[in-house]
Amino acid sequence: MDKFIIQGKKPLKGEVDISGAKNAVLPMMSAALLANGVTTIHKVPDLRDTRTMIRLLEMIGAEVEFDNGSLKIDGSTVNKLEAPYELVKTMRASFYVMGPLLGRFGKVKVSLPGGCAWGPRPVDFHLMGMEKLGADVTLNQGYILATGSSLNGAHIRFEYSSVGATGNVVMAAVLAKGTSVIENAAREPDIVQLCEMLNMMGAKITGLNTNILTIDGVTELHPTEITVIPDRIEAGTFLMAGVALGDITLNHAEPSHLQTVLDKLEECGASYTTEPGKIHMKKADKIIAIDVTTEVYPGFPTDLQAQWMALMCSANGESVVTDTIYHDRFTHIPELNRLGAKISLHDNVATIEGVKSLKGAQVMSTDIRASASLILAGLMADGQTDVSRIYHIDRGYEKIENKFSTLNAEIIRVSV
Ligand code: UD1
Repeated sequence: MDKFIIQGKKPLKGEVDISGAKNAVLPMMSAALLANGVTTIHKVPDLRDTRTMIRLLEMIGAEVEFDNGSLKIDGSTVNKLEAPYELVKTMRASFYVMGPLLGRFGKVKVSLPGGCAWGPRPVDFHLMGMEKLGADVTLNQGYILATGSSLNGAHIRFEYSSVGATGNVVMAAVLAKGTSVIENAAREPDIVQLCEMLNMMGAKITGLNTNILTIDGVTELHPTEITVIPDRIEAGTFLMAGVALGDITLNHAEPSHLQTVLDKLEECGASYTTEPGKIHMKKADKIIAIDVTTEVYPGFPTDLQAQWMALMCSANGESVVTDTIYHDRFTHIPELNRLGAKISLHDNVATIEGVKSLKGAQVMSTDIRASASLILAGLMADGQTDVSRIYHIDRGYEKIENKFSTLNAEIIRVSV
């Protein structure tokens, strides 16, 4: 098992390239299953999660080639309509194969995701959407079996905006007969890009970038070629490192996807400039304590909540972080406190009292974003921080230690 050893307080400088977005590419890879031919996706990040999705697509019978950031997925050889527990339990996004397989083949068997490091994270909205489209959905021995040889367009309203359920149901609805309307749909950039990709494949989806998607069903989709949008969560993580530690430039970033985060960083005392595809972030002279509440896009992302907390540990005063999306996504707090942070938690509200300096210690990753917050905290701390269980970070950040090293940080990966 690998761990990171970080020598903190090294000033950062230089440029870093942001990878393609994990949360965009995973549903896009599933969308390739809708076409009878070879779809090509460029700027695919080499992550544990993309590798897991490749394994899943191969198990389903697709032929997949991954070379130099480009993926070729041949949906013409699909022959096994099943996502097994072994894979779904390691990556919840495996559930994304449900929509396309049901839509194209009228049948799919997908394991329920089961527990994860934070919260129950149900899939009831996904299943409700499939049922509304006319599928028969049953649960047997931990597996969802959905059947429906001809799906029909339907009016679907999500009680709460869900990224996964929106993507999954859209992928089932594109081949349904008639028109579907999804109300309270997610409009995260990842979902917008999925809809753009489906339209390039011949789907008829309107309402992109809004909360109401209208889908006019078509009889078949064809393969396409597309480049993944930049990962706004990876970019946000590096921006916070810049605010705390030095002047850095992010290349292949999309400033418009990060407006709320950039506004918050400015309130904190940071100054930045943007140009197409780039963000230049300057170290703040003093980090001002600023409260954050996570919300659906374009609000502050829950996926940057843990990293924000790490930044606030060095702020001048007390700040409050509230997570309204996942009420129990706080496993990073005891680990940050091991580094000398002063964070207390009541329900889904964390109060962070800024400290003069964090102090290096041994800490343990518990999920992707918690790992990122511990790396940030380690980079900001005095002395050495060892971050263990970094297989979590490898799920969602591409070679994060190399990227920080190019920015002058002292961080190495060792096998233990
Ligand atoms: C996606 C992201 C994840 C991010 C999350 C919220 C991917 C691969 N993952 O996860 O990084 O943290 O969005 O931005 O894109 N819910 C239900 N029933 C459902 C589905 C969701 O109650 O059937 C609830 C969830 O418990 C949560 C909220 O809806 O409280 C939002 O979850 P959702 O947007 O679905 O998250 P994911 O798609 O799993």
